[in-house]
Amino acid sequence: MRRDLHRPLPSCPIARFTDDRRRPHCDGYTAQVLIPWGTPLRSDGPVWKQDASNTAAEQAQQVGMHHDGMHYFPIGHGPHGNRRGLLVLNHEYADRILLYADGDAEITPEKVNKALAAHGVTVVEIARGKDGWQRVDSRYNRRITGTTPMRFSGPVSATHPKLQANNPPMGTLNNCSHGVTPWGTYLACEENWNSYFGTQDLSWTPTAEQARYGINREGFGYRWHVADPRFDTAANPNEANRFGWVIEIDPFNPASTPVKRTALGRIKHEGATVTESRGRIVVYTGDDQDGDYIYKFVGKAPWKALKAVGKSPLDHGTLYVARFDDDGTGRWLPLVHGQGPLTKTNGWADQADVLLRTRQAADAVGATRMDRPEWIAVHPRTQDVFATLTNGSGWPGAVNPRKPNPYGHIIHWREDGGDNTATTFRWDVFVLAGDPAYDATVKLDDSDIFGSPDGLWFDGDGRLWIQTDISNSVQNRADRGYDRIGNNQMLAADPATGEIRRFLVGPRGAEITGVITTPDQRTMFVNVQHPGEATNAWGTPTPANPRAVSNWPDFDPAGRPRSATVVVRKTDGGVIGT
Ligand code: FEO
Ligand code: CA
Ligand code: CA
Repeated sequence: MRRDLHRPLPSCPIARFTDDRRRPHCDGYTAQVLIPWGTPLRSDGPVWKQDASNTAAEQAQQVGMHHDGMHYFPIGHGPHGNRRGLLVLNHEYADRILLYADGDAEITPEKVNKALAAHGVTVVEIARGKDGWQRVDSRYNRRITGTTPMRFSGPVSATHPKLQANNPPMGTLNNCSHGVTPWGTYLACEENWNSYFGTQDLSWTPTAEQARYGINREGFGYRWHVADPRFDTAANPNEANRFGWVIEIDPFNPASTPVKRTALGRIKHEGATVTESRGRIVVYTGDDQDGDYIYKFVGKAPWKALKAVGKSPLDHGTLYVARFDDDGTGRWLPLVHGQGPLTKTNGWADQADVLLRTRQAADAVGATRMDRPEWIAVHPRTQDVFATLTNGSGWPGAVNPRKPNPYGHIIHWREDGGDNTATTFRWDVFVLAGDPAYDATVKLDDSDIFGSPDGLWFDGDGRLWIQTDISNSVQNRADRGYDRIGNNQMLAADPATGEIRRFLVGPRGAEITGVITTPDQRTMFVNVQHPGEATNAWGTPTPANPRAVSNWPDFDPAGRPRSATVVVRKTDGGVIGT
């Protein structure tokens, strides 16, 4: 690759958000905590209660839990947009111990409702004043939760028999990463939605389709189905079909109903990264499961032409799944009813059927199994594509080079002809994550060792920002080769040279996920998700001691850890990363 990074990598070695009240100690940078979980959306809203005694109704008027994918939409033109804008962020899940004053040993309808209110998306206006960035009262401030009314659009319509359930279409869950359209809307993605469904009906067994998506009797142990029949997969089986989609939200229209765009497929969407080629939109999306696939959606026509006739560019196009061949080439395989194996003869009723069972359609066409696809980033000038594979079994094929793959890697590809709508591409491995002390094939050193890359984003200059999500089951453990890497972190990479430098390190128990800057790149927003979560290395929070692992960011002796956005600025007001 040619060198295309115009500005240097960050000179700051580490800004560390520690668990002992020390401020980030990187010379030249400042960090400020913004909109932690529980922040009221309006100044007259319900105040945060540090003992987690806020009700479900109060939580619905506060910033949600577990900040994840995020975008900044500037308000006003030119420099005004660097000081005022809408921050839109996902809330991936809710910690079942820290969310409640008394933990979750007993599950009640109120507790399910509070968890639903802690999920979803926050839209909040923020502005920079003399005290830094602050939330402001705004008509745009809004929560979208697990109970917000939803519309369906695309080949799987709201009237489809498989979408009829015992309650109206509502809610979005497990919103991990995100996307942004060229027409200024936000895409929230549903990832581990299967985890919320379960049943106490011992006669229930999953269909092949349910099993392919991981729906089982226990889910991830949340037991919502015990207190809310909506999540009982035996009594209300079609409710789960309403999840696994990409949701379009118009942040500047607070009265708008979010739309589930079914043409983008039903998987465990990590994110939905949108780029443009020949006027068409191209949406890259990973399915985060060990052994699942990378997809892209290509618009049928230039998006402006579709918008001009009142059509959504997200409803009209072709969904493809990737095959990575060992010779360094790759091919996008169409998931189109009637093409290849996706015929009526083979049991595929129509395109809606293909999309409702996207994973099985991808199985049928022979896509390449991957080590947990996470975020996908497109270089702002070269249009090259990078994707994180966070860790996995080490599936067959050169694209999964380590078998097994406990640390993950980042791959890169260039679509043929530099056209992101192309159906063929060339790929390579950008970096193998890990610690050379445990794996001699790793070409990193102490200044940049990392594991389990997850978040991935290009700034406007072409710096590639990498965020990590090492599982708390292995983080900081010598017996798993993770003791020297430490807590989760964010790094910056030069995509041309492969040079990588650590930028910041998070508190105990947290992952770093979600990053965006203002248009002038002089303010960076970074999310710290699930600080203080149970870890094998540091312990387990309890209702009596929610601070057992971390008490970031408040450090209140009677408080508890909470996810938050961190605002990073340079003390000289310069561009972040220079
Ligand atoms: Fe929600 Fe795959 O990270
Ligand atoms: Ca993620
Ligand atoms: Ca993750």
